Amino acid sequence: MPFQLNPYRDASRWDLRDMLEVRAFLRTLPGYAPTPLHELTGLSRALGLGSLYIKDESARFGLEAFKGVGAVWAMSRLFASGARPKMVSSATDGNWGRSLAWAAGRLGISAVIYVPSHTVPARIEAIEREGATVRRVQGTYDDAVRQCAHDSASEGWQPVSDTSYEGYTEIPSWVMDGYDAIFQEADEQLHVRGLPAPNVVLIQGGCGGLLGAATRHFRSQGEPCYLVSVEPVEADCLLASCRAPGGARTASSGRLETVMAGLNCGEVSLVAWPDIRRGVDLFLSIEDEDAARAMRRLARPTPPDPVIVAGESGAAGLAGLLALFHAPHLTHLRTQIPLGRGSRVMVLNTEGATDPAGYERLVGVRPPTP
Ligand SMILES: Cc1ncc(COP(=O)(O)O)c(C=O)c1O
Repeated sequence: MPFQLNPYRDASRWDLRDMLEVRAFLRTLPGYAPTPLHELTGLSRALGLGSLYIKDESARFGLEAFKGVGAVWAMSRLFASGARPKMVSSATDGNWGRSLAWAAGRLGISAVIYVPSHTVPARIEAIEREGATVRRVQGTYDDAVRQCAHDSASEGWQPVSDTSYEGYTEIPSWVMDGYDAIFQEADEQLHVRGLPAPNVVLIQGGCGGLLGAATRHFRSQGEPCYLVSVEPVEADCLLASCRAPGGARTASSGRLETVMAGLNCGEVSLVAWPDIRRGVDLFLSIEDEDAARAMRRLARPTPPDPVIVAGESGAAGLAGLLALFHAPHLTHLRTQIPLGRGSRVMVLNTEGATDPAGYERLVGVRPPTP
């Protein structure tokens, strides 16, 4: 489990960002409701923490993952700009494609979604159920991104992607703005219960869109908060970029083989990296077994915690936290963060059991039907 403390961390106060229009827009949508924020008192007591919160995104818009807030906000910004595409396109490891197909479908727009060759049938079928056409690419997620960009240019489709690259940044930055709603909801949920904001937040990273949104949110709050990036060892583009000379955005040299399909990205999103580089404190990589252990911990909780159904990528933030307690070479980081009685930790469950067969294999029980 490699880690890297961020030497580029900029401790100065960031400009305040007002993203309230995202929430105002979401409130106009049928089916919108804030996702639950659970307090895991059993687990936080067992770990010796002050408190532990988990925001459960598995119920977001009935899409089993957090990405719907980014997709629906990006589509609304696209419409507001006057664009009326007949077809939108994107690459995905599963969740983004499903969310985009849903958000486009609401507006009567078709979607074509590119998936890497290893994508499991359940995730492809979930995208197709939202009315999209799925194209399988022989290769990785990053190959699917390139193929989609190439075909979209020749076919005249509008790419609506959650990752960004040279020459394509505006829409992915709208997607990240949409994710801010998750953190606004959490702020509000804590506030109404009279609880203070978290001071340690662990976020799982794929291309870094969600982590970048979290970084912008917590750094513009002005409250001290220790931010941890968690990603698979075999798809560690965030940690690799932090370690590269000058902290330059760098592809992972991992095998890009992991059960954490949503985090299986070889390259960091261009628009997300500068803020992540400036605002994240610690980059941590975890093994597949760490994710599986966290899934089981959520499935068979310490009383009185609720049962939470988390997919492989969904449980990765919590897996990073548990690794800081169980991996002997990481335990010294607990003093540095610090993790103890004064800590108010927050993690996100970013997906439900989007691969039910994989969930059953790793957890040992069949997931409930969502
Ligand atoms: C379940 C889940 N969690 C986390 C992420 C990471 O999000 P990002 O790619 O914006 O870093 C993804 C991305 O697909 C995902 O599907």
